[in-house]
Amino acid sequence: MTQTPPLHEPHKIKTVRYVAFPSLEERKKALAAADFNVFHLTPSQVSFDMCSHGTSAMSQEQLAGHLIGDEAYAGARNFETLCRVVREVLGHEYVCPVHNNRGAVKLVVATMVPPGSVLPSNARSRMDVLTPRDIQVADVRDTEEELFTGNIDVAKLEALLATSENVALIGMQAFADGQHPFSVENIKAVRAVADRHGKRLVLDGSRLIENAWYIQRHESGRSNTPIADIVRQCVKGVHIFQMDGQQDPKTNIGGILTTDHPDDYEKFMNEVVVYEGLHTYGGMAGRTMEALARGLQEMCDEDEVRWVMYQTERFTGRLLEAGVPLERGCDGAYLNADAFLPHLDDHQVDALAVALYQTSAVRACAAGRPGRDKLLPVQIPRNAMTNRQLDQVGDAIVSLFEQREKVAPLEVNLAGRWRDQMRYRSIFADLATFEFNTIPYVIHTIEKVGALSRPEREKAVREAGYNTFLLRSADITIDFLTDSGTSAMSIDQWAAYDAAKATSYTSDAYHDFVASLQESLGYDHIIPTHQGRAAEHILSTIMIEPGQLVPGNMYFTTTKLHQEMAGGVFADIICDEAHQAQSEFPWKGNIDLAKLEALVDEHGAEQIAYISFEHSVNMAGGQPVSMDNMREVYRYCSARSIPVFFDATRCVENAYMIQSRDPRYASTKVADILLEMMAYGDGCTISGKKDLLINIGGVLAFRDNDGWREKSEELIRVYEGEIVDGGLPAADLAAIAQGVREMTDDRYIASRVRQTRELGKMLLEAGVPIVTPPGSHAIFLDARRFLPHIDQDEFPAQRLAAEVFVETGVRAMERGNVSKGRDPKTGENYRPPLELVRLTIPRRVYTHDHIKAVAAGIARLHARRDEIRGLRFVYEPDRLRFFQGRFEPVD
Ligand code: F0G
Repeated sequence: MTQTPPLHEPHKIKTVRYVAFPSLEERKKALAAADFNVFHLTPSQVSFDMCSHGTSAMSQEQLAGHLIGDEAYAGARNFETLCRVVREVLGHEYVCPVHNNRGAVKLVVATMVPPGSVLPSNARSRMDVLTPRDIQVADVRDTEEELFTGNIDVAKLEALLATSENVALIGMQAFADGQHPFSVENIKAVRAVADRHGKRLVLDGSRLIENAWYIQRHESGRSNTPIADIVRQCVKGVHIFQMDGQQDPKTNIGGILTTDHPDDYEKFMNEVVVYEGLHTYGGMAGRTMEALARGLQEMCDEDEVRWVMYQTERFTGRLLEAGVPLERGCDGAYLNADAFLPHLDDHQVDALAVALYQTSAVRACAAGRPGRDKLLPVQIPRNAMTNRQLDQVGDAIVSLFEQREKVAPLEVNLAGRWRDQMRYRSIFADLATFEFNTIPYVIHTIEKVGALSRPEREKAVREAGYNTFLLRSADITIDFLTDSGTSAMSIDQWAAYDAAKATSYTSDAYHDFVASLQESLGYDHIIPTHQGRAAEHILSTIMIEPGQLVPGNMYFTTTKLHQEMAGGVFADIICDEAHQAQSEFPWKGNIDLAKLEALVDEHGAEQIAYISFEHSVNMAGGQPVSMDNMREVYRYCSARSIPVFFDATRCVENAYMIQSRDPRYASTKVADILLEMMAYGDGCTISGKKDLLINIGGVLAFRDNDGWREKSEELIRVYEGEIVDGGLPAADLAAIAQGVREMTDDRYIASRVRQTRELGKMLLEAGVPIVTPPGSHAIFLDARRFLPHIDQDEFPAQRLAAEVFVETGVRAMERGNVSKGRDPKTGENYRPPLELVRLTIPRRVYTHDHIKAVAAGIARLHARRDEIRGLRFVYEPDRLRFFQGRFEPVD
């Protein structure tokens, strides 16, 4: 099995959860209110919450399971699912569900560990349930072992069994205390001892996957054994197995106790009704059993295990390199607070947690009894954070380490027996704070991506006739076909979606939709449509008299089509630089005012229907329009009563480009820039599937009402739906309203455009020819320069898109000779000046590591570009041939 670190997550983001970035003042207030005990902070006061228990990003299948929970009191179908999966994955016959791992421990202790007995174990922590029963834990960990530090010393165990009458059972923990893994050989040896002495061996496998990964890497002869097999060997090796749903199975609660022994199972069944619930639900909701079953099925996925463990290794490695004193754990770094803060006499763990929160809003928190250990766990929630975020959390810790002598001591106000009871007072030390510069959300749910081998991808592309539109999405690793409708929704959008009350008439969601767009666009009249092209159809129909001109900054396919269908004549008045792939002009989306004036002089203002003014011009490479250009065009047009309508599909990206490229706007909020931009127009159409962060929807909006609203509504009733829904359900209207509130978040939009820029920068550094400067939503490969040896009639961009998929598993879109089609007069291909491949980046879906992998893959492809040959049609449809056309390579 290969040991190279994975290049990127084996999944993409399905839903996101925004995190808070409290100011230093807010953090100080929060700390004071929490009595300097970070346990009492809530996630809305915390940027990154470094705990791995019940905080994993679930898979979309697990989340879906939440909705098919069978909440029957007895014999729920979800219990049957759980039993089937336990047999499949773990191999044990009997399953006793429990509400969480403490429930499992309680059941085992109540049925098998009499008061006063001795419990040998390789773990030291989390045995609080034993104290009142006077049960002594005997530490039998093998202290000589260096690799498998969680192994039990078999001789020590034998000796204990020989001398003590009171050993109830033998306990083992996978990755004991979070830091000490055992080997398969050891579990076998311990089992043999247990059987000889007639004792039960009980394994807490809440972190068995991490332990299995360690075994695969380090135990001799097991490097080719799949994780799934190692897991079964361990489980089948013990009498009783318990697992916390909040760990490897990635649920938010729940757990299981399993065995092959009917007598043990009978004891659990009879006891579970006392403490947990009935034996077929054990204190878990039906939905939790469903999510737990799916989590058990998924947890052995080699790619996911490797990713999670790679993140841990990377994170701890970074801290160790900087000299931070810690112990490596299977789920993060356990900071050694004593060594970190040697100048403090006591409460170092809590003082360190307070200082970390004060400087960075990162929460790390120790549980259990105060003073018992000196480690502060900084755990990584599974699949929920990106490497970049983890790097920055690491940097925040390192920065604190560098000023550690300034960390203030805590004074006890009120001592408690448990850490959550501790109340402190302290002064705020003068510590430099840490600023995060990452995506402002964590991953809430994930969707596994396709992982075909290269030969499989070659086969898939042949079968798709070298047309990326004809590939199956399930075969794609990173889908850069479009940024349209592909955004990951936030949990707040989902909440609004779920809560929307459906009606055939006016919904509350409609009013919310209108209010949010009025506020962000500054326009009074807001009309919902099902997509952008529906709004374009209506605008074109009501505004264009046949024969009138519609000047625009380049064009988008559907926009131009509707203008022409309404009898209009499109006139391209974009600046010349837009057509030059290598021009570095920062505002390639600008209208050339001289071209507009010439049109008006020649035809008269009354012959101009309106100006079709697109933000972040898609076909030009996502190129922005400057604020000055919008202002000048509007001044010129207003004076001549020519209406200006924006295609505001990517207006927020354009606003961000103004913030980042126009120094006068550097400290203006994107939301305010957007309002000023929209002030230089009379209305707009929007495809909501882009900047509005929604999977479906569109908008038609007007500042004033010159009868436009009534005319539009007339068409809405005929073509779309009701005037209050535009053919959208209330749920989508509600999700759009929330998306509109999220889209101008300065941190979000900066991180979104940064991804595109970084892809562009990495490709340029690798010498790959792209359209410059990089736009906001996509990077366009210049196929003319990438494959100069292929004639345009052999479709270099089409072949390049196919090869990008073969090389990298990335899906892109041809924008060149194939898309443009044939001239009906001559029957020849148009051979347009731009022969491009568009790599379009969906919003909130991919991480920096995905972007890096794409750039590296395309750079590899560029290195072997001479081998690449052109294509010829084997099937060529008459219209829009790029969708269905099929090709074969030219030899
Ligand atoms: N305007 C622009 C600038 C667009 O990019 C799109 C769609 C539309 C209008 C049409 O809106 O799809 O909601 O009806 N662009 C997608 C793309 C298809 O991949 O660029 P819609």
